[in-house]
Amino acid sequence: MRIGVLTGGGDCPGLNAVIRAVVRKAERHHGDTVIGFHDGYRGLIENDWTELDIERCRGILPRGGTILGTSRIQPYTLHDGVERVRLTMSELGIGGVIAIGGEGSLGAARDLHDDGIPIVGVPKTIDNDIDATEMTFGFDTAVQIATDAIDRLHTTAESHDRVMVVEVMGRHTGHIAIRSGLAGGASLTLVPEHPFDIAAVCDSILRRHQRAKKYATIVVVAEGARPAPGTIDIGPAEVDQFGHERLGGIGQIVAAEIERRTGYETRVTILGHVQRGGTPTSFDRVLASRYGIAAIDAVHEGAFGQMVALRADRIIQVPLSEATGRLKTVSPDLYDAASQFFS
Ligand code: F6P
Repeated sequence: MRIGVLTGGGDCPGLNAVIRAVVRKAERHHGDTVIGFHDGYRGLIENDWTELDIERCRGILPRGGTILGTSRIQPYTLHDGVERVRLTMSELGIGGVIAIGGEGSLGAARDLHDDGIPIVGVPKTIDNDIDATEMTFGFDTAVQIATDAIDRLHTTAESHDRVMVVEVMGRHTGHIAIRSGLAGGASLTLVPEHPFDIAAVCDSILRRHQRAKKYATIVVVAEGARPAPGTIDIGPAEVDQFGHERLGGIGQIVAAEIERRTGYETRVTILGHVQRGGTPTSFDRVLASRYGIAAIDAVHEGAFGQMVALRADRIIQVPLSEATGRLKTVSPDLYDAASQFFS
């Protein structure tokens, strides 16, 4: 069988591990040939690809990024996108496509399946916000990077008795923020699921500093965190060419308000794309490898329209329609545990 694989949306650590696993099982077990489409759906639309084999995948397991390249281009934003996907598939004799992506790419995979394209999804995003799976790969790595950064900021914050605001990724949900905040001993964590009141944030910092003379404060802010209605106005976010809001900057606003309202010297660190780069943790390498193996098996079972997912340490299949129907938000249990340590 001839199988296509693509990586779409923002990159994340572990993409190469999935590709390697797909190729290994496809070639050794099923006797397939694997085509890697360049730059996500762009390669599938424009018939731009490279052949992948075990030799080509040597050494890529620990490498961040994706050897195939990625983009946010999608078939449904072009008037003839789906037709061109069909054309590429028939010209190359592709029997099934494995789309490795986040909410946008998996949503397109769901629609392509509805339009008759044989496609299987693999959930990827450092944000961990894909529903129907307990974990996306890349998330564990991002949490570890954010935790390491918080640990480092702690020692400098203590030396200067400063407030440190750390902005982490998390577009719609606060999974990275809440876990790295809990792991790094944050004094407060602001997440999109709980709009914040800046006055309450500052009161709690003031109370904390009154309790002890030298009491460094770390505030973790998810990039998608927003003030509660009627508190402060942060203005609209910029939008990129794909209509994707360009986030990043809420940390600056929070830091400026804290310094102005409390009088405590405050610094801000925006971790940004550092969280998406570099080598995946062993957890992510293992999860990505298991997803890759399960995805190629799903293609051979004809389980099109399905996404591979992690549940209770087993890799299962769930319909793409179920996985993309809504986002997975931070659970109240986890938020409650983290909030026990606030200020
Ligand atoms: O969706 C993953 C993510 O890392 C978000 O947390 C972030 O908002 C976004 O990608 C940034 O993407 P880019 O800068 O590549 O457009």
